[in-house]
Amino acid sequence: MCGIVGYVGNEEAAPILLDGLRRLEYRGYDSAGVAIQEASGIEVVRAVGKLRNLEKALFDRPLQGSVGIGHTRWATHGRPSEVNAHPHVAGPIAVVHNGIIENHLRLRAELEKGGFTITSDTDTEIVSHLIHRETRAGHDMLTSIRRALAQVEGAYAIAVVSEAEPRRIVVAKSSSPLVLGVSRNATYCASDIPALLPYTNEMVFMEDGEIAVLDPDGFSLSTLAGEPVNRRSRKISWSPVMAEKAGYKHFMLKEIFEQPRALEDTMRGRLDRERADVETAEIGLSDEDAKAIRRVILLACGTSHHATIAGRYWIEELAKLPAITELASEFRGRDAVIGEGDLVIAVSQSGETIDTLMAAKEAKARGAKVLAIANVNGSAIPRMADASFYTHAGPEIGVASTKCFMTQLANLLMFSIWLSRRRGTLSEGEAREIVEGLVRIPHQIEERLEAMHEKISDMVREFSNARDVLFLGRGLSFPMALEGALKLKEISYVHAEGYAAGEMKHGPIALLDAEVPVIVLAPQDRHHERVCSNLQEARAREAKIIGVTTAGDAQTQSLCDAFVEVAPVHEVLSPFLTVVPLQLYAYCVADHKGTDVDQPRNLAKTVTVE
Ligand code: M6R
Repeated sequence: MCGIVGYVGNEEAAPILLDGLRRLEYRGYDSAGVAIQEASGIEVVRAVGKLRNLEKALFDRPLQGSVGIGHTRWATHGRPSEVNAHPHVAGPIAVVHNGIIENHLRLRAELEKGGFTITSDTDTEIVSHLIHRETRAGHDMLTSIRRALAQVEGAYAIAVVSEAEPRRIVVAKSSSPLVLGVSRNATYCASDIPALLPYTNEMVFMEDGEIAVLDPDGFSLSTLAGEPVNRRSRKISWSPVMAEKAGYKHFMLKEIFEQPRALEDTMRGRLDRERADVETAEIGLSDEDAKAIRRVILLACGTSHHATIAGRYWIEELAKLPAITELASEFRGRDAVIGEGDLVIAVSQSGETIDTLMAAKEAKARGAKVLAIANVNGSAIPRMADASFYTHAGPEIGVASTKCFMTQLANLLMFSIWLSRRRGTLSEGEAREIVEGLVRIPHQIEERLEAMHEKISDMVREFSNARDVLFLGRGLSFPMALEGALKLKEISYVHAEGYAAGEMKHGPIALLDAEVPVIVLAPQDRHHERVCSNLQEARAREAKIIGVTTAGDAQTQSLCDAFVEVAPVHEVLSPFLTVVPLQLYAYCVADHKGTDVDQPRNLAKTVTVE
């Protein structure tokens, strides 16, 4: 959470920083600010609220200079206000920070005792004073930052400018993400790749415990302890257009419509149709590894956690291996029994979610092998993992995850097929049916998307005033019900619950009356009959039923007040289709209510605090 950006070159820095912040706004959007080296020294402009307020402030007070840093904030310490907005200045130093300084209270007391005046409630301002204290002791910028960081505990990605060395930015990282961008005559830094895509594709991913000095000619990288680090830049294949709205009203809608393409990109070169198998040489796990696994533990948060529940069902059913899912935040600090023979699959769109990262590290330290499924190349979780299996969804900007969820499902299913083929639990014939079915999925989504969107936009007029919504599903439809409810909550602020359909009678049925829409996932699968009984139970309490049914299932549709059809598929493939109308439902309700779809209140795309 929070986005930082920096530019050192020969162009005007302010527009480049603003553009970068616009592309990072999904990481936090309660205040923003920039610090620019002007001829007379560092000048700072900050504003509360969305980035447009900072743009306006910069219009009223333009800053000129070709070196600067910027920040968009998601408040952790101190409410959103101008004084708490970054950059934080101490003497000739200005700092932007993403992360949390855990020992800030002790450091604050120590600095105040030493005569430093701290004006904000933030932990970040402490860092700027620590650096200032070191520069006052006569150290240069790099040494001062090294010495200051030796005193802090916690997570940070920082970018620092100093009036004493006006053609440089110094950046450092521990736990929070930081990427450098290099081009001719300019060097950049940012919390995430999309901020830099319009300027360069040449990027360097910084590791924890590293510090870098940026100037217009490039960068020099070293450890905080002073050891030089030699790392070459890599070419990133994402294009800037991938991070634009391309005529859609919101990024979320664009990303829902991109799902067929995202799936194709993710499956390309990985499905071996001839042998009805999955080609995963890139993962780096051998056939022997597949046979040696005793148990699979899937770790994730939020939407990624819902993908892992489907993953668990696939691994159990196809590979006949014990599998469990764990919310990463609950796994940590608990004495979970884990060790050799366990394969941990850590799933994360960003690859930076701190709970998932720390849980995976803990599992690895106890002897488990870790496989990362992530969308952002080179992010922290794949870097710490023993093996990685990337999704290729392209940049996802909407805070509500859609296309990345879809591609996580694809990777989890492909991995399950790979495991089952190595373990001899899935015959060639069964595997062929699933692989061929998977190949058809992108087209089956695509052919219905437009009409489904139209139908659901009309449908929500009737239902968008509901205060509570229940989503029900069984088997593989259960995690999709959880996902549908999460999507609705996060962007439309409507209370929603996802429930295993069979559990409804154990409590939630008490909520039902004519005011509560119940969205029932009832594709044709082994659970269909029992789900229809649950649907009838809800109907008997006068709830309004919206069905997600297999095309042509007139009998189920006759029990619904409204319904959406999905294509008939092999039952293990149903999640790929049933989740799409739920994403569209959440989107249409939010759009109808006029909420901020891409940047819902209180949320951030990448959660780097515990
Ligand atoms: O980047 P990750 O997949 O690790 O993120 C996990 C969650 O924070 C994320 O899925 C969150 O729940 C989304 N806002 C859901 O739309």
